[in-house]
Amino acid sequence: MDVFEAMETCRAIRFFKKDPVPQEMIDKIMYAATRAPSPGNTQGWDFIVVTDQEKRTQLADGIAAVMRPAVAAATEQFGGADAIDPVQKRMLDGALNLAIHLADVPVHLLVCGKAIYPPNAPSETFVWSALYPAAQNILVAARALGLGTCMTTYQQTCEPLIREVLNIPEDVHIACYLPLGWPDINFGPLARQPVENFVHNDGWQGDLRG
Ligand SMILES: Cc1cc2nc3c(=O)[nH]c(=O)nc-3n(C[C@H](O)[C@H](O)[C@H](O)COP(=O)(O)O)c2cc1C
Repeated sequence: MDVFEAMETCRAIRFFKKDPVPQEMIDKIMYAATRAPSPGNTQGWDFIVVTDQEKRTQLADGIAAVMRPAVAAATEQFGGADAIDPVQKRMLDGALNLAIHLADVPVHLLVCGKAIYPPNAPSETFVWSALYPAAQNILVAARALGLGTCMTTYQQTCEPLIREVLNIPEDVHIACYLPLGWPDINFGPLARQPVENFVHNDGWQGDLRG
């Protein structure tokens, strides 16, 4: 698949089939992740690939316990179930579905890393500089293979539990938590504003968003 087609159809997937993902595909996605740029090419990333059912269930239970009430609260913030904008409603319905069925998503991927750059004064800021490009490569590579993912910050819901279940040391930061599997919903096209709303030619031209 052309990389532009992969990017423009790389919708956040929150509905998954239970079917396993072949190891060769996981390997290919990890290869893509490790081709990302990083500060000083330090490659300060580690990827935790969770396929073990017992661990996925433990993680999913902890995450769902926080996500279920969080999605309900978000629905209220957007005006309640009857008043909510359809796009927001679709996203929240998806978020709730993902939280409820997370244990069944065949692969849980955590993008992690230690502060290692700059070498003389490692800074947390540069951890995210390395990990987010790697995560984006994962999203696009998965899409190109017909697999779905959703960027999430689920690590923030129950970080101590996640660290305990996966034995993640304290000095390893977790950037994002990516459920990965076969989509049970269509890919893209993405809902994005026109490119003209964002691109300033030859200098800042004021707010372009009309
Ligand atoms: C840093 C980051 C954190 C996100 N966290 C979550 C999350 O915790 N749960 C979730 O369902 N989606 C999460 N998303 C996905 C966004 O909601 C999604 O990309 C956005 O709504 C656009 O949807 P689309 O990519 O399908 O067009 C996150 C995205 C980013 C970039």
